[in-house]
Amino acid sequence: MIALGSDHGGFELKESLQELLKGRGIDVVDCGTDNGNSVDYPDFGEKVASKVSSGEVEKGILICGTGIGMSIVANKYPGVRAALVTDPFMAQMAKEHNNANILVLGGRVLDTDSARKMVSIWLDATFEGGRHQGRLDKITALEQGLYK
Ligand code: RB5
Repeated sequence: MIALGSDHGGFELKESLQELLKGRGIDVVDCGTDNGNSVDYPDFGEKVASKVSSGEVEKGILICGTGIGMSIVANKYPGVRAALVTDPFMAQMAKEHNNANILVLGGRVLDTDSARKMVSIWLDATFEGGRHQGRLDKITALEQGLYK
């Protein structure tokens, strides 16, 4: 299950990605926004990131104009690894090296086809583990105040 959220800057892309995900047989939780009217991105980033953080959903996708605001919000949540990506290589690395559980996109930065491609790459890639797991463990230690 994947939670999807955007502000007005990402609304159109969110709708397209929702169709892509449903076409792949993935259950989607649409956390809004529901139209192109101006809203505040933290209100929607919070909805998706809290669901990923609690384990209610496995993954999330967040979109705002640049993706910057949403990535700042999402990474405040324990256990969230939100990756702002702008090209296919970053989308692949976000999973293979960082095991990102939230993909963040800029609706005013990417064309729809490129964004859809990046989402597919992220979904299809596999976390490599090994030395990368050790690095993620350090991030978990940071979250818990146990980093040495
Ligand atoms: C909204 O105008 C814009 O600031 C927002 O979509 C996003 O780009 C913030 O990072």
